[in-house]
Amino acid sequence: MSVERTFSIIKPDAVAAGQAGEILAMIERAGFSIKALRMTRLTTEAAEGFYAVHRQRPFFQGLVKFMCEGPIVVMALEREDAINKLRELMGATNPANAAEGTIRKRFATNIERNCVHGSDGPETAETELRYFFSTLDLL
Ligand code: RTP
Ligand code: MG
Repeated sequence: MSVERTFSIIKPDAVAAGQAGEILAMIERAGFSIKALRMTRLTTEAAEGFYAVHRQRPFFQGLVKFMCEGPIVVMALEREDAINKLRELMGATNPANAAEGTIRKRFATNIERNCVHGSDGPETAETELRYFFSTLDLL
């Protein structure tokens, strides 16, 4: 498996709770290098665009509202097998099912307020990185 990059968000719940630093430390301890990082906020339109794949899901409106609650931290992360390794480190979408030692097990409140996002495949990773970062950011 070669070095690969992925995209991650520390969601508004975790930023508001002052957990961003510890989540970043967990990510770094897991062997990821941070290639780009910024604190920002999502407008309704930006959140709808980012999660467009879920537009038909019953949880879509709630998800968009949640993601716009407050500041988020967006990151480009790199390591070997980054996409799968980040999903492993995050844990299951529903923290009730998340394994010990995962970010969601430690910090998530419920299936929606689950503190972190990670891209789910190579194409989504590139699309999501481009959604937030410029070519210069990603050099
Ligand atoms: P993410 O995209 O944020 O990394 O999370 P994921 O792949 O583990 O989960 P996904 O199925 O892509 O869902 C995206 C986000 O929508 C919220 N969600 N709420 N209320 C619900 O049943 C429900 N299901 C999903 C979560 O914030 C989830 O991370
Ligand atoms: Mg997802």
